[in-house]
Amino acid sequence: MERAIGVIDSGVGGLTVANELMRQLPKESFIYLGDTKRCPYGPRTKEEVQQFTWEMVDFLLHKQIKMLVIACNTATAYTLKDLQSKLDIPVIGVIQPGARTAIQSTYNQHVGIIGTEGTIKSGAYPEALQQINNEINVTAVACPEFTPLVERGINKGKEAEEVVRRSLKPLQADPEIDTLILGCTHYPLLADTIQSVIGDNISIISSSQETAREVSTILDVHGLLYKGKQNPKHRFYTTGDLKTFVELSNRIFDESVNELSAVQIGKATIEKA
Ligand code: DGL
Repeated sequence: MERAIGVIDSGVGGLTVANELMRQLPKESFIYLGDTKRCPYGPRTKEEVQQFTWEMVDFLLHKQIKMLVIACNTATAYTLKDLQSKLDIPVIGVIQPGARTAIQSTYNQHVGIIGTEGTIKSGAYPEALQQINNEINVTAVACPEFTPLVERGINKGKEAEEVVRRSLKPLQADPEIDTLILGCTHYPLLADTIQSVIGDNISIISSSQETAREVSTILDVHGLLYKGKQNPKHRFYTTGDLKTFVELSNRIFDESVNELSAVQIGKATIEKA
């Protein structure tokens, strides 16, 4: 059977990346795993995120994936280098592609980043941006309330607007920001509300398009692009409640998913943070 591309996230956020991957790579098969049961990863320790991410990766390695996409900024920040050095398949995260897109977008080198506490604390975005351009001014803000909101299926309306307005206040520290990176794969689901709060003068960047472009290039370079004639097969797994996961994935996907199931990985009974 043709080997699939594995995509992992702490929950439903990575579906925004999977959606773009399927759009840009329509012949490829994908296996998605969202660790919804232990979401959010943002407030967790580095060690926990590393352990949970490895558990997801082990699950996908048993399914013989040919490439791994870490569609979670928090997991990318804490595990990318380790996974790249230990796995013998190509591994890509979402932080470097996001940083590159922001550099293309900004005209005045004032960039805002919003993400989970873990991602912001790791300093991975400023590092990725400044590796490309030392002159970039970065204002980074953690938005711990966003992911739980999205996992509950709320992305617009009064509650979403209030949470977004309150959370983004610290960005006012730099009134010159012209580009805002959504440094968490859950946040594109709140993009309309975020844009209405920050106004149309600030460009919103999510890393999914650039990540998908990079996956396409890496597959090509490694001779891993699917060359057969069979239709792709997409399998999605969640460690949490299947009904909520199906509802949210139906909202995001136009593509048909062939299989959607709930699975247990690692110590399935680990409590939420
Ligand atoms: N969607 C994930 C990210 O991109 C994590 C959100 C969370 O689990 O806190 O960081």
